[in-house]
Amino acid sequence: QTAQLTIDPAFRVAPVDRRLFGSFVEHMGRCVYGGVFEPGHPAADDRGLRTDVLDLTRELGVSVVRYPGGNFVSGYRWEDGIGPVGDRPRRLDLAWKTIETNAFGLDEFMTWAGQAGVEPMMAVNLGTRGVQEACDLLEYSNHPGGTQLSDLRRRHGAEQPYGVRLWCLGNELDGPWQVGHKTAAEYGRLAAETARAMKMIDPSISLVACGSSNRGMPTFAAWEATVLEHTYEHVDYISAHTYYDPSDGDQASLLASAVDMDAFINDVVATADHVAAKQRQRRRLNISFDEWNVWYQARLQADLDRRGWVEAPALIEDTFTAVDAVVVGDLLVTLLRHADRVGVACQAQLANVIGPIRTRTGGPAWRQSIFHPFALTARYARGTVLRTEPVSPRYETAKYGDVPVLDTVAVHDESTDELTIFAVNRGPGDLPLDLDLRGLPTLDGVAHLTLAAGDDPTAVNTEAEPDRVTPRMLPTPTGDGGRCTVRLPAVSWNVLRFA
Ligand code: AHR
Repeated sequence: QTAQLTIDPAFRVAPVDRRLFGSFVEHMGRCVYGGVFEPGHPAADDRGLRTDVLDLTRELGVSVVRYPGGNFVSGYRWEDGIGPVGDRPRRLDLAWKTIETNAFGLDEFMTWAGQAGVEPMMAVNLGTRGVQEACDLLEYSNHPGGTQLSDLRRRHGAEQPYGVRLWCLGNELDGPWQVGHKTAAEYGRLAAETARAMKMIDPSISLVACGSSNRGMPTFAAWEATVLEHTYEHVDYISAHTYYDPSDGDQASLLASAVDMDAFINDVVATADHVAAKQRQRRRLNISFDEWNVWYQARLQADLDRRGWVEAPALIEDTFTAVDAVVVGDLLVTLLRHADRVGVACQAQLANVIGPIRTRTGGPAWRQSIFHPFALTARYARGTVLRTEPVSPRYETAKYGDVPVLDTVAVHDESTDELTIFAVNRGPGDLPLDLDLRGLPTLDGVAHLTLAAGDDPTAVNTEAEPDRVTPRMLPTPTGDGGRCTVRLPAVSWNVLRFA
């Protein structure tokens, strides 16, 4: 069967916000220690930042990085991570049953973010702490000087305020696993009061209220509604988190994960708009999809049970397959398609902990399979997202029912008149795709890149073989008055470029 796609530049969704290409650095496992930070490593700079990981972060095209958690933030005292390193306390991190040395903290993260060229997105602790500590952290970070905390920052070497614009009001407080877990009403009140106070200090910041930890939570949607009843007028985003687990071996469903993400986004938008309607709010809230990825979650508990309290243990260091990379590419397609309502998105996490970048402590850093769809999407998704209505064959999945084989998004860069189509073939056979570039008839094909998993679905990148899964070029599509046919390989994620 053949699929069809019509592209018309008149049907616009929204400009692509670079903040959709975010990532996440949590004090978890070896994301910080042995990942972005490893004093004494041959590639570390004089502050202990791994320059090989910095290079890969820049190559990945990451725009914004969320820090310091995650579940970690819900028990974190941010002051532990500033000042002379020798004076910093060692603490129990209850979230990951880990000893936190605090050798890396806020000032090190801000230096790292500057080197990486990324915007910082900070989270405050609303698990074990509250309004005052959030205000203290904001004052330390963003107030120019002349107060105890801002002058402390200056004494620590940062004369200019960090000017952090994006702030998360806690993390996953709907989850019973969260230190300081709360009901929606308890969290909503605390988040609203924290938001009000933080905006008194710096009205230019944007705030993210916690949505549900995932769409399967028993409180999903009711949580969002209650939290937004309290916070709507004070916040700018509601968060969403989701992970797709390949552990059960159901590849057909895994490949349709983006169908679930799509429905999740629609549900959160509907819930936020319902609160807006009730409260007669004109302003519409957007989603901060600040944790998303593929994650072999079944392995986490075993990791935690296996040991006592240690520093920076290897945690959830999943090695991603070629199929996982196709799924990650498709999740990016979905985020882009919702560019009108998803304003921020962070893949979780950056290094080692389910990350696109993998390192060996004391050894090299390499690109996992999922690195490639992220890097190419960040590079080529520039301009305006166009609305598309693909016509596609369908297939049956155990988890999501009947789903389309083809998933697509198109991005038109008006400044250069370039068109990029990201297209996923979820099916086990090659898929011919007829393209009708209506309204852009003079464009011709420039490249067809594919990351195809059909031949070797379980292929992975390892330290010994770091480039086994990489995108490859296919024959360039040739336009004929705006019409052409391309062939999408079995189980593949594709970039089709026209100029
Ligand atoms: O990214 C790993 C963890 O997943 C985060 O700490 C938490 O927020 C989520 O449950």
